[in-house]
Order: sequence, then C-alpha cells, then structure tokens
Amino acid sequence: MTKFKSFLFTLFLILSQVSFSQVRTVKELDINWKFQKGDVENAQQESYNDSKWETVTVPHDWAIYGPFDKEVDKQTVAIVQNGEKEATEKTGRTGALPHVGTAWYRNKFTISEADLAKKTILLFEGAMSEPQVYLNGEKIGEWAYGYSYFYFDISKFLKKGENTLAVKLSNKEFASRWYPGAGLYRKVSLITKNKESINQWGTYITTPKVSKEEAKVNIKTKVSVTNGALVTTILDADGKEISSNKTTLEFGNEFDQNIKVDNPNLWSPEHPYLYKAVTKLYVNNELKDEITTRFGIREIKYEANKGFSLNGKVTKFKGVCLHHDLGPIGTAINKAALRRQLTILKEMGCNAIRSSHNMPSFEQLELCDEMGFLFLAESFDEWAKAKVKNGYHRFFDEYAEKDIVNLVAATKNHPSIVMWSSGNEVPDQHGEAGVKRAKWLQKIFHREDPTRPVTVGMDQVNSVMKSGFGALLDIPGLNYRVHLYEEANKRFPQGFILGSETASTVSSRGIYKFPVKQGKNVQYDDFQSSSYDLEACSWSNVPDEDFVLQDDKDWVIGEFVWTGFDYLGEPTPYDTSWPSRSSYFGINDLAGLPKDRYYLYRSRWNKDAETLHILPHWNWEGREGEVTPVFVYTNYDSAELFINGKSMGVQKKNKNTPQNRYRLMWMDVKYEPGIVKVVAFDKDGKAVAQKEIKTAGKPYKLVLNPDRKTIKANGKDLSFVTVSVVDKNGIPCPTVTHQLKFKVTGKGTYRAACNGDATSLEQFHLPTMKLFGGKLVVLVQSEKEAGNIELTVTGKGLKTGKVSLRSEE
Ligand code: GAL
Repeated sequence: MTKFKSFLFTLFLILSQVSFSQVRTVKELDINWKFQKGDVENAQQESYNDSKWETVTVPHDWAIYGPFDKEVDKQTVAIVQNGEKEATEKTGRTGALPHVGTAWYRNKFTISEADLAKKTILLFEGAMSEPQVYLNGEKIGEWAYGYSYFYFDISKFLKKGENTLAVKLSNKEFASRWYPGAGLYRKVSLITKNKESINQWGTYITTPKVSKEEAKVNIKTKVSVTNGALVTTILDADGKEISSNKTTLEFGNEFDQNIKVDNPNLWSPEHPYLYKAVTKLYVNNELKDEITTRFGIREIKYEANKGFSLNGKVTKFKGVCLHHDLGPIGTAINKAALRRQLTILKEMGCNAIRSSHNMPSFEQLELCDEMGFLFLAESFDEWAKAKVKNGYHRFFDEYAEKDIVNLVAATKNHPSIVMWSSGNEVPDQHGEAGVKRAKWLQKIFHREDPTRPVTVGMDQVNSVMKSGFGALLDIPGLNYRVHLYEEANKRFPQGFILGSETASTVSSRGIYKFPVKQGKNVQYDDFQSSSYDLEACSWSNVPDEDFVLQDDKDWVIGEFVWTGFDYLGEPTPYDTSWPSRSSYFGINDLAGLPKDRYYLYRSRWNKDAETLHILPHWNWEGREGEVTPVFVYTNYDSAELFINGKSMGVQKKNKNTPQNRYRLMWMDVKYEPGIVKVVAFDKDGKAVAQKEIKTAGKPYKLVLNPDRKTIKANGKDLSFVTVSVVDKNGIPCPTVTHQLKFKVTGKGTYRAACNGDATSLEQFHLPTMKLFGGKLVVLVQSEKEAGNIELTVTGKGLKTGKVSLRSEE
C-alpha cells in the first residue's frame, strides 16, 4: 500500500467507526423467565397468563432442588456395558432427582422499529431436552439433543414492541446414564445485527504454520453478502494491534485471509497466551458488522511412535473426564463453579479435560483457553444402538450430522480443543453398520474441521480390533482394558493409543476400611468405598496400573481419568443400594473437596510442587493395637515414618508391584493415638521435607475457609466456603458429622451446600446439612449490589464460625 492509500484507508476506518458505533448487540435473556412444570395447555400462546408461574433466572436447572426420590429412576435392568447378565433393581442411576417430565419457560423482550429491519438470531447454548420453541404463539423451531447448541433466525417472526418467547422441554425417563439436569441450563441470547453481516459461527481461525519466528494465521469468514470488504486486525493479549489485513470479496460469500504474526506467543497449558482477531465487514464502504474472536497460536501433531506434540514438544495428556453437573448447583452453568473446578485440577497438575460424553459449555472452553487445559470435546454416548431405552439412538439418524456441525462450528476457534470424540463406548462397536457409522461421523468432523483428529472411547476392544473400527479412527481411544493396550497397539496402524478413559477407582473422602486390600466391586454396609484407593469396578482398575503404561510406553499418549469430580448419578458399586445417588469415581468429591487420590495424581502430575500426603486420618478410637496401614503419596522416592516418635522404617518406591512403584506403604503399622510423622528423602538420601498429622481431641469450633474472599457483584458469582471442625488446639476432627445451619447476611445469598456424601438425601439448597468426614462446602452467591457479605455457620456444641466476604462491581 502506498502511503497515501494507507492514509485514506485509515481515515475511512475511523469515519466508518464513528458513524456505526454499534453494529451488533448480544442480549442475554437471563432474568424474568417464567417457569412452570407440567404440560401446560396453550402455554405457547402470547396471551397466556403466566403471572402465577415461578420467576426464575436462566441458566436454570429445575430438578436440582429435589427432593431425592428413589422412584425417580428406579429401574430393573442389567447394565450390559458393565458386563451384567442379570437384571437387578437399580436406583439413583440418574441422581434420583426429579428431572423427568415436561416444563415450560416463557420470557418477554422488546424489539424496536429499527431492529425489525435487522437480523435477529435466537441462540440456545443447551436446553434439556427436546426443546420446542415458540415466538408470539408460533412455532419457530425445535431440537432434540439436550447438549447441543442451536439457533434460529427469528427475524421474520418478530414484531415491534413486546415479543413472547415460550420454550417447552421434555425429559423422558431412562434417557441418560447419569444426571442430565433439566431445563434451560445454559445461556439463551438474542443477537441483533444487520442483514448484511457475518454469519453465526462464521469465523474459522487456524494457524497452519507455526514457528518461534513467525506464524501464519488463516481466517475464513462466512458472510451474508457477495460484495464487500473485510478488515481483520490481530491484537495481542494486551490489546495492542500487531497486524491487519483487508480483503475484498471476489467469489461467493467467504473471505479467506492470511495474516502473519512475528515472534508469536505460542499457546500451551503452561503459557495460555491468547490473541484476538477483530473482524469488520464493510459493504459499500459502510461498516456493517464487527466481531471479536479469541484464538491461540499453537501447533498440534499426532505421530506414530511419538504421540502427541504441542508446538513441537511431546506432551502426554494428564487428563480427567468430567460430566457437566456442578454438584450442588446441578447443571445450571456457572463460571465461578467451573473456574473453581479447573483451579483445583490445575493445582493437581492436570493438563487436559474430556467433556464426557457430550458437548462442553462455552464457558468451560473459554476457561480452558485462559487457564491452559487441552480439551477433548466429545459428542455422544450413543449412536444408533441403544444403551438406555430413551437415549440418543432415537435421534441419531436425523440429528447426528447437525449436532456435529454445530459442535464444530461453535467451538472450533478454541485453542484448547485438540481432539474431537464422536462417541463413547457406543454399542455400535459391534457389527459392520457401526464401522460405517464411525467412518461417516469422522468424515463429518474432518469436513467441518480438517485440523483436528477424531477419537472414540472404545471398550469393546476385541471386537474393534477385528472389525476395522479401531483401525479407521484418527486416534484409537481405549477405555480401561489395560491388559489389551499392547495387543491393540500392534493391531492398530496408528502407532499410538490414548487412554480415553482410565481408572474408575472408587472411594469416599475420609472413609477407610480394614483390612486394607485390593478388590473389585467391594461393598460395605455404610455404602461407602475405602479411601485407601484400592477398589475399582469389574471393568476398571486402580490408578497405578495406568501409571505403569503411561510411564513405560512411549506410544501411550496420555490418559483421561474417570473422573475429576464426583457427579450426580451412577452410584457404582452401590447402584442397587438406596440411598446412594451420586458417583464414587471422583478424584474430588461432589463438593469439590479432594479425596486422597488427588495427591496420588498430584505427586506424578504436578512437577512444580512438593506433594507429601499421609493417609488415613489418625482418629481410630477402638482400633488401638490393630493393624492400620499408613500410605504416603509423594513426589519423593523414599520416606521414613514415625508413630509417636518411633520409626516404622524407611519405604522406597520400587517396581515390585504397581502400588510399590507409586505409593509408599507401611502395611503393618498398629494404631495408637498421637502423632504420625513422615520425613521424605531426595535421591541422595537427604531429608528434604516432613509432614505430621495428629489425633484430634473433642470437636471445639467451626472453621470457615473461602476459596475467594472478594467476588463480583453480578448476582451470579460464588464463593465456595469450606467448613471444617477443629479441636481446642486447632487439630482437624475428620470424623465428626454434626448437623450445621447456615445464614448469609449483607449483599449475598445462600446458594447451596454439599458434603460429598454419596448417600446423603439432604437437599442442597436448604440452609442446613450434616458434616461428612468432618467437612462440607457452602456456596455463597453475590447480589447485583456490591457490599459486605457475612456467612455464619452454627452447630450444636460447636463454637460458631463466621466469615466476611465482599462483592465488588
Ligand atoms: C465407562 C463409561 C462411563 C462410566 C464409567 C464408570 O465405561 O464410559 O460413562 O460409566 O464407565 O466406570
């Protein structure tokens, strides 16, 4: 460009910005929704009187308020995928919360005369499930899968003034293998823009060439016009303009721009650097549309015998699988709750998330981009063959392609996503039709996004080795079956295996069972699993067995542990034992409190921090003199254990068994109250760290510990306050189970509480709950007005606990 031309162009940009300051608006429909459960007649009509309906805010999960009820999901079935042959009565499989049935949501919004001439998109980021959408009494569209993002162009249905939106949702029984939630549980928004504009999800940013010196950023932009010019400017993380490109539309309605970035800051979990692309569409020199897309510059590769590399560095997935519920607040999406989960996982050294077994929320992806997590974005738990009576197989033929297209279109600019998954343990792994479906789905992903590979979490490993199903996938993902990794790797052509789902070890936080021994499907009278981390399911294994493969085989490219957090539903091994109603698989419990296993993973995954964790707790009145093994999870190789000053000897990690390799275990320790001390040694035998735990005296006072003391005054933000009990000397009392009461005053409200007990039937939103393992977590929510907030927790015989929080604009 000559200097003069460039001056004119800059002038033109300035002028057009002045005359069209706001070319598009995004309005979140969050408040003043009217909600009614049941199939209400005529509720779609504009004139319908909904004044008696409950007023709710969206995101909203209508079922999380309970009560828990055994009958909700009672079912006599054999869960074939768990290897069961005989039907038994199961309860709690979907969380025993009242999510089944129909419900209506209504909302009113205003449209101006000027907006009528524009284009308006109504976007749902998820609606559980089978949404039927009406505007001013007329049906404007529908969808099926509760996890899909979808939108409608509602321009032609709008009128000036008040418009009435009505959404009908229906959840069938036996439609899920876990708690699916219910309602408009993700955001709903209205996007108003010019008719001449950038298409919804019309921007596709890739980085086809990446080196330390320079990166080529390719930006494809689909627009609604066939003439016009597109200006894209790239901003660095500080908002500084670094390069720009103007392209004129010559063919069709897609712009293709290539922009060079010198010395790019590459995105990685350790350095999650994000750029922004600001794209402006001009028609006849008038600014018509503008969007900002965040992206990262990074290079991903999957190679035989080398595995996955990120920016040229071989990187193993140290990942966890997550279901979408957020424990006590259910499935209603909440960024503070998601951020807390990711903060806990980051501290563990986790670098990857798998959104099992469905589309992730936009908020989760945004946070993974920002905080640095690799992401495996999954789509389905079923294809055409059923796992549950009313599962996704009902929609597969009609919707699978549409659902994938929307998944990819909406999320493909997230640098965190490094792999797609078209399915999890689909029964279609058996038979020729399944092989065809696998191929078909993978092709759709490739067509929509040629830059990322596709996997399927496979559990029918013998079958997929024979049929060609496993061989055709970009990434062969194995769920469990550690004994088949070697064979699968030989038989598959890819040259690597992903542990798409691993471990499924079960435990309850703070609960220990004796004698300590490894076992499968072990059950106890209290419906809890032992926190010695030695119990798994018939199909699964303890963590150490995965570690061996991850450490010894270069061709194993990582693992996604089942699961990062406990979730509502699937109370294996107690799915025939009411009142169990949530999972035992989590590394963290349903309240987000770490179980012992957290430290086992941390000792391997978090290379920057010291881990020295002792288990069990040391409060075993009545077990004096009995064998009470002590385990230590640590990044150090060896340690010496002392009970009340007496040495129990030095233990050193060794390769005799998987457990000996990753845990330090003193199996013969006899219980006596007092002090357990561990001294850890470095490779040269030098004492470098130590830790103590002590037997507690009588419970004395409540201690409150918030994850954040200052939260945002937006009516949504949450502070998670961990409540525990200590004795007079401040020693934690890990066995107490007092009933507590919660009160929030000032500019905040009590949102929910959770104690992580998978058998508890206490409702999360009521301001009282029993401690479990001496702890629970209270969620305090901000109001829209800023100010001081105080949480008071009381319990009989305990000194009251108080904490002051603040909310700010
Ligand atoms: C897997 C399945 C998960 C969960 C898990 C429990 O087979 O993919 O959804 O059911 O087992 O171990």
